[in-house]
Amino acid sequence: MAFVNENYLKLPGSYLFSEIARRVNKFKQENPSADIIRLGIGDVTRPLPAAVIEAMKKAVEEMGHAETFRGYGPEQGYEFLSQAIIDHDFTPRGVNLSTDEVFISDGAKSDTANFQELFGVNNTIAVSDPVYPVYVDTNVMAGRTGFPNEKGQFEKLVYLPCTEENGMKPALPQSRVDMIYLCFPNNPTGMTLSHEELKQWVDYARENKSIILFDAAYESFIREENVPHSIFEIEGAREVAVEFRSFSKTAGFTGTRCGYTIVPKEVMVYDTKGEAHSLNTLWLRRQTTKFNGVSYPVQAAAAAVFTEAGQKQVKETIDYYMENARIIRDGLQKAGYKVFGGINAPYIWMKTPDNMESWEFFDKLIREANVVGTPGAGFGANGEGYFRLTAFGTRENTERAIERIISKM
Ligand code: MLT
Repeated sequence: MAFVNENYLKLPGSYLFSEIARRVNKFKQENPSADIIRLGIGDVTRPLPAAVIEAMKKAVEEMGHAETFRGYGPEQGYEFLSQAIIDHDFTPRGVNLSTDEVFISDGAKSDTANFQELFGVNNTIAVSDPVYPVYVDTNVMAGRTGFPNEKGQFEKLVYLPCTEENGMKPALPQSRVDMIYLCFPNNPTGMTLSHEELKQWVDYARENKSIILFDAAYESFIREENVPHSIFEIEGAREVAVEFRSFSKTAGFTGTRCGYTIVPKEVMVYDTKGEAHSLNTLWLRRQTTKFNGVSYPVQAAAAAVFTEAGQKQVKETIDYYMENARIIRDGLQKAGYKVFGGINAPYIWMKTPDNMESWEFFDKLIREANVVGTPGAGFGANGEGYFRLTAFGTRENTERAIERIISKM
């Protein structure tokens, strides 16, 4: 008899976005003629940029000839890509990195999910609430939590409420924690931290020897000044932070899969004797054992994002989504809804009308307006009473969805 990893049994039956897909499919079966508009999961709708496609085709062609064929690549990623990342995304912001601090992967979801493996099972963890469920669920799977309470909050995790009162910005933990997950621009609230606000977290981590796991998957949507794009823009962050980045939302790679994680050489974790170990070395050890790298055509395609044509095309796509965000935000605000986000992020976090529960609002919205969003409660107890819409739809669907929400809800 094989025994189960009982930690899995602590989790809700299905992952948030699988549950939404299940409910949408059920509704579709019962209402086959319904014209459903999906602004739920943050999946992009614009095609890959032309420069990316061109580079991918060229790389595929190379794979078909013995002289240019490539087998296993470096597990950490090709240097042509990590160097392009550094040159375009970090050096101009005053952040010095070396290519062996960049780990190319199949996306930020896997990396934010897997990185916790490097930490002891007794580490204490802080997460914001609401939160991207991957950080919580993977730590539950690893056994770093107890069971959930009636609000779905797991014992031993430290939840940092993001509320209307604190402007959706988590306060520093009251007690010391070992690991902190931060995501800015935030999924799901769409809010950001200023340079000074993020510095408080870096200072906290330095004082407490904590590690910040910083998810910057949405950095390319930042429009305002004084919003850091990388945690490494903050002095001292190299000692205490790792950062996750993604090509998914930036350049349309949700189905193509490519992301990267920055692990500075200075970030240390400690054994029970107090001896320091480099997270960079440990992550390399983990990746070389469990991962064989991202395919060459995908890395070649990702590198094309940083060419002049690629940059121009990516900017057009981001502008397109951010205009959707403006349409959603303005439309909802004019209709009297309270909204957050949507200025430096592709997510709009709205308060449900009349304090309606968020799953109830989900059901009503799909039934009456045939629009799909994400119930705030799916992101944590403090998401109750809120609802997330994404700006990743087509312009036409975004406009129609907002018209329907305004007229039918
Ligand atoms: C979301 O909708 O929150 C995103 O799709 C999450 C993800 O990228 O995994």
